[in-house]
Amino acid sequence: MSLMGKFGTKCHMQQYELEDDKLVIPDIGWWAKKKYHFLENYLKIVSKAMKDKWPHRQYLDLFSGAGIARIKGTGELVMTSSLIAASVDNQFSFLHLCERDQENCIALESRLRRYSPECKFKIYQGDANDCIDQVMDGIPKRNCLAVAFVDPFGLHFDYETARKLSTRKVDLIVLLADNMDAMRNWKKYYESNPESNLDRFIGESGWRDAFNNSPTERLPEKFRLRYIEQLKKLGYQFFETTQVQNTSNRDIYTLLYATEHPLGLKFWDEARAIDEKGQRNLF
Ligand SMILES: C[S@@+](CC[C@H](N)C(=O)[O-])C[C@H]1O[C@@H](n2cnc3c(N)ncnc32)[C@H](O)[C@@H]1O
Repeated sequence: MSLMGKFGTKCHMQQYELEDDKLVIPDIGWWAKKKYHFLENYLKIVSKAMKDKWPHRQYLDLFSGAGIARIKGTGELVMTSSLIAASVDNQFSFLHLCERDQENCIALESRLRRYSPECKFKIYQGDANDCIDQVMDGIPKRNCLAVAFVDPFGLHFDYETARKLSTRKVDLIVLLADNMDAMRNWKKYYESNPESNLDRFIGESGWRDAFNNSPTERLPEKFRLRYIEQLKKLGYQFFETTQVQNTSNRDIYTLLYATEHPLGLKFWDEARAIDEKGQRNLF
């Protein structure tokens, strides 16, 4: 049963009143609402479109969280990525959910069972880059289309993990920490360490020259473009980036969408046409 079925109403799922169930509830900034809004729209569109075409329709969440979060300042409770994915009307046939923190895993499992009891899922507790082989074992090689949502706090999604995903039909929505982590720390923490998070994330070492030869304000763009070039090597062909700002209108992160198929990009454009405040996006 999806949330819609359970409550018998057609309203937007983030408008449901969620209860504090005394399990862990991470605090998040209000700007996270944009990513949930676009993700929810996209998953609704794509799950509907996939329903009769693909016997296996999977959703992967490599940094799953606890299912519910609290907006700092207002105290509002919102569903987060995995619970959003579990609640779409045309359910995915399977959800693979990785999360390192044990308390988050316990909370996520309880909330999935409560709000989306018919959903089929597996939670992998551990580092997503270590769990990925088990996840891959659960993705059929044929007749399966998958969407992976990759939402780390920083540069914790290894290129090698992206490479493994690219061996199946997996569209990517990656939160790029281009203004949070990478841009602040590259000189201090990453430049002299050949195995830095940035090297593991981007999958090549040539970023050093490019960064050193770039004005600071152009670094986020340089970083995004280099990463896109790297994903092209894995077979991804169509990309879209959406920047998200904080209260001071400063860019804080970018949502990168990557797919092998033009139809995926059409769905993503549709999903982000109207933002969480009801404003039409101009692009
Ligand atoms: C930014 S939160 C995103 C949560 C969720 N996707 C959402 O919609 O709010 C990142 C999550 O990844 C988890 N995490 C951090 N490092 C991880 C890793 N290496 N592998 C798997 N999970 C990790 C954290 O515990 C946290 O719950």
